[in-house]
Amino acid sequence: MISILDIATNNIKNPMFKLEHYFDIYDKYFSKYRNTPVRILEIGVCDGGSLDLWREYFGDTAIIYGMDINPSVKRFNTQNTRIIIADQQDREYLEELFTDEPPFDIILDDGGHMPDQQKNSFEALFPLLHKDGVYIVEDIQTSYWKSFNGGLRKSNTFIEFSKQLIDYINVDHFREEDNLLLYLPLKTALQTQLTSVNYYDGMVVFTKGNKIRKDGIHYYGNGITKKESISLYN
Ligand SMILES: C[S@@+](CC[C@H](N)C(=O)[O-])C[C@H]1O[C@@H](n2cnc3c(N)ncnc32)[C@H](O)[C@@H]1O
Repeated sequence: MISILDIATNNIKNPMFKLEHYFDIYDKYFSKYRNTPVRILEIGVCDGGSLDLWREYFGDTAIIYGMDINPSVKRFNTQNTRIIIADQQDREYLEELFTDEPPFDIILDDGGHMPDQQKNSFEALFPLLHKDGVYIVEDIQTSYWKSFNGGLRKSNTFIEFSKQLIDYINVDHFREEDNLLLYLPLKTALQTQLTSVNYYDGMVVFTKGNKIRKDGIHYYGNGITKKESISLYN
């Protein structure tokens, strides 16, 4: 199969701007979806090059959605590449937008890159992700830039928001007596389904999964295993 970098270099019709090291990260999370009926939503269409990339990479079976605030990108609309004109900051609108649709496998935010846009989109759309899906916020370096209301450790940036979400990964192990949930906003999809937050240069990747409480298992190396309750660390 042709590599994603080869596609970006030689097989897209329209211009696209991506940092070169993003391609390996995309491939790490996306390769299992190639030539499947994957459903992907990218916020930020611009010149249409990334829509070309996803079509070439995922194949004809993919259902690709591109969302942008600029109505001129409607020109990229086709049967299986669906353009939605919307403001990614309008959380309530986004929450309603896909109610009758199956969940997305991949959501990629490469839109306006302002903190409120990134947060509102995440809060509205993460719940709409498939139970094994992946949500990427791209060009997260804007969290450090004044021109994007950013700054190191500045509250309200997306990078600081994302750091708070890390606690949801271990929410199953909170002890009732600690009442730790009081410190987290109770968002059901995050509490029950956020399985990892992965940081890369310029990107944050959130994965979703089914966090059914698991037993611990003792492995004795002789074919014998013994299940223990997770409370074994008491
Ligand atoms: C960086 S470009 C997208 C680039 C494209 N993904 C690519 O890789 O070629 C950002 C796009 O986000 C759009 N955008 C800016 N603010 C937005 C908003 N509030 N809601 C939706 N889209 C927005 C812009 O119109 C622009 O087309």
